[in-house]
Amino acid sequence: MPPTSRKTAPSPGAPKRPGTSPRTRTGTSTADASARRAPRRRGHGDLATPGTAVVITGGGSGIGAASALALAQSGRAVAIWDRNGAAAKALAARCADEHGVAAIGLRVDVTATTSLKSAVRRSRAELGPIGGLVHAAGIGGPAPVSALDEATWDEVLDVNLRAGALLTRALHDVLLDANPGSAIVFISSIEASVGSAFLPAYCASKAGLLGLTRAACAELGPEGIRVNSVCPGAVDTPLLAPLLAMPGAREHLESRTPLGRLAQPEDIASVVRFLLSDDAAYVTGTSLVVDGGMTAVGSV
Ligand SMILES: NC(=O)c1ccc[n+]([C@@H]2O[C@H](COP(=O)([O-])OP(=O)(O)OC[C@H]3O[C@@H](n4cnc5c(N)ncnc54)[C@H](O)[C@@H]3O)[C@@H](O)[C@H]2O)c1
Repeated sequence: MPPTSRKTAPSPGAPKRPGTSPRTRTGTSTADASARRAPRRRGHGDLATPGTAVVITGGGSGIGAASALALAQSGRAVAIWDRNGAAAKALAARCADEHGVAAIGLRVDVTATTSLKSAVRRSRAELGPIGGLVHAAGIGGPAPVSALDEATWDEVLDVNLRAGALLTRALHDVLLDANPGSAIVFISSIEASVGSAFLPAYCASKAGLLGLTRAACAELGPEGIRVNSVCPGAVDTPLLAPLLAMPGAREHLESRTPLGRLAQPEDIASVVRFLLSDDAAYVTGTSLVVDGGMTAVGSV
């Protein structure tokens, strides 16, 4: 077990631990200090993609599934966690078949703390060191704030935001063990920055992820774990299907996007893969907007 001091927030005014000092772990081998830090770039193209596995929540569909396939294509083992266990297993089989990587699909509800712990143990046992997390599991919960019920608010915040923190906590030790090169990507949204009248819980949860990204960056940066978010615009996935089924909705969105089309899940997955790779070795605590230019022209 790690020392409790590593899990405990310092009290206000407590002396700050020097940012470069490695944290000592009790009960596990203490690797060289440099192994705890982010890889150091010495030129162009001299850093390989980490050989570690990646956990992808919501990997049974849409952006999570495309991210798992993109990561598998780059040779990384993948643990696909989804509350839809059949979809997770099917996608894992596809990653293994198409890209020859080790892959596991598990039925995991990301809001359940106990299932996270056992999923980490099982994924680590089957895939070896885990050096990445993509939190793509997400739900919409459309309801205007004037008519919002508490259950909807709680469910959306639990899946989209609270789970991001719980997953980070659950995977912290294995990410540390897999260093150098460990990284986390939260799938936020452009709705983190613009208001949508029918999505108050969703907007709040996605904005919260950006705050979590910065806080986790501050804590985990000195340990060499990078934390970033991706903010997609309109992506053609099952989540958006009810909206796209409305007459003229697709055309409306396309007309307001400078690139003239909706994103495909692969457009987001390639950015996720970049952020988890050593090509992004100095990128942490930030978010990348991937929206075809929608927010740049203020047309959301
Ligand atoms: N589609 C878009 O336009 C869009 C835009 C911006 C951000 N996003 C975000 O991207 C992420 C992926 O969305 P998507 O569009 O691929 O949706 P999707 O519905 O295709 O996939 C979401 C997946 O999350 C899983 N999931 C939901 N709740 C879960 C839970 N409690 N535990 C485990 N798995 C759970 C679902 O089973 C599903 O497989 C979400 O966080 C979403 O908010 C989507």
